[in-house]
Amino acid sequence: MNVIQVEKLSKTFGHVTALDGVDLKVQAGEVYGYIGPNGAGKTTTIRVLLGILKASAGSAKVLGQDAWTDAVDIHRRIAYVPGEVNLWPDLTGGEVIDLFLKLRGSDNRNRREELLQRFDLDPRKKCGTYSKGNRQKVALVAAFASDADLYILDEPSSGLDPLLEKVFQDCVREVKEEGKSVFLSSHILSEVERLCDKVSIIRQGKIIETGTLSELRHLTRISVGVQTRVPIVGLHDVSGVHDIQKEGDWVSIQVDTERLPDVMKHLSQFEILRLESGPPTLEDLFLRHYRSTGGAS
Ligand SMILES: Nc1ncnc2c1ncn2[C@@H]1O[C@H](COP(=O)(O)OP(=O)(O)OP(=O)(O)O)[C@@H](O)[C@H]1O
Ligand SMILES: [Mg+2]
Repeated sequence: MNVIQVEKLSKTFGHVTALDGVDLKVQAGEVYGYIGPNGAGKTTTIRVLLGILKASAGSAKVLGQDAWTDAVDIHRRIAYVPGEVNLWPDLTGGEVIDLFLKLRGSDNRNRREELLQRFDLDPRKKCGTYSKGNRQKVALVAAFASDADLYILDEPSSGLDPLLEKVFQDCVREVKEEGKSVFLSSHILSEVERLCDKVSIIRQGKIIETGTLSELRHLTRISVGVQTRVPIVGLHDVSGVHDIQKEGDWVSIQVDTERLPDVMKHLSQFEILRLESGPPTLEDLFLRHYRSTGGAS
C-alpha cells in the first residue's frame, strides 16, 4: 500500500506557482526523503498532505484517504513535526506533549519519559521561554511518543545540535523498525541520505529526480582532499576524477561516488598522510544536474 500517493499536484498562490505537477509515491515501511532548496515547495506539499491547504489541481492521498476531505480521520493516524514550531507560550513543554498525545489517543508514559531524557528536554519550563531548538524537541518528543502509522516531518532537525541530531536519527530508525513510514523534508541531502530508503528532489515546484540513493548516486560526487608522502601522478587518467586542484602538497579533487574505491586505490600508492572528504552540497548537485541535462536553471 502507498501511505502517500500524490498525482499531478499543483498549488498556486495568486501568481505564485508553488507546486507544478508533483507526483509522489511513498510505500508503507519506507523512510522517504523530500529534498529541495528554500522555496522549492516542500512545506506547501506537506500542508496539502495535512489538509491545511487545498490543492489547486491534482490529487493527494494519505493512508489511502483524501488529504482534504478525510483530514480528520488521517490526523488520528499520523504524527507531524513542523519546521517552525510555535507552541502555547503559557503551557509547559510537558503539558503540550500531553495535549498532543491525548489528541492522538496515545498514552505511553514510559516512551514519553524515555524520549524526554534522550532529547535532554526539561518539560517543566513554559514554552514561551524555550529556544527554537527546545521548541523543536517538544514537537519531536510528542511525535515519537505517539503511536502513528506515518510520521510527517518538515525539516525537523534544523534547530538541533549534532548530538541531538543523532538522537533524532535513532528515533527515525526505531519507528522504521516497527514498520512505520516516515516522510522527511530537508534542504540538505547529506543530512537525510543515511536515513532514507528513497528520495525525491524538488526544485521550483517540480520533482526533478526520484529514486533510491544508489539510483541517484550518479548525481553525487564526493570532494576529496589528500596529502601524500610521494607526489601523486596519473590522476588525470583515473576515471571518475574531476576538478583537480593543487596547492603545495595538498591535492583536492571531486570524485564520482561509484568510482571512489578505484580512486582511493590509486591515491594509496603514494602513501597518504592526511585525507579529508565531504559530501557534495545540494547546489553542486543541482548545477551538475542542469549541466548534464542541458535544462535551464
Ligand atoms: N501562503 C502563501 N502565500 C503565497 N506564497 C506562498 C505561500 N506559501 C508558500 N508560498 C510560496 O510558495 C513557494 C514554496 O514555498 P514552500 O514554503 O513550500 O517552500 P519550502 O521548500 O518549504 O522552503 P523552505 O526550505 O524555505 O522551508 C515559495 O515561493 C513561497 O514563497
Ligand atoms: Mg519549508
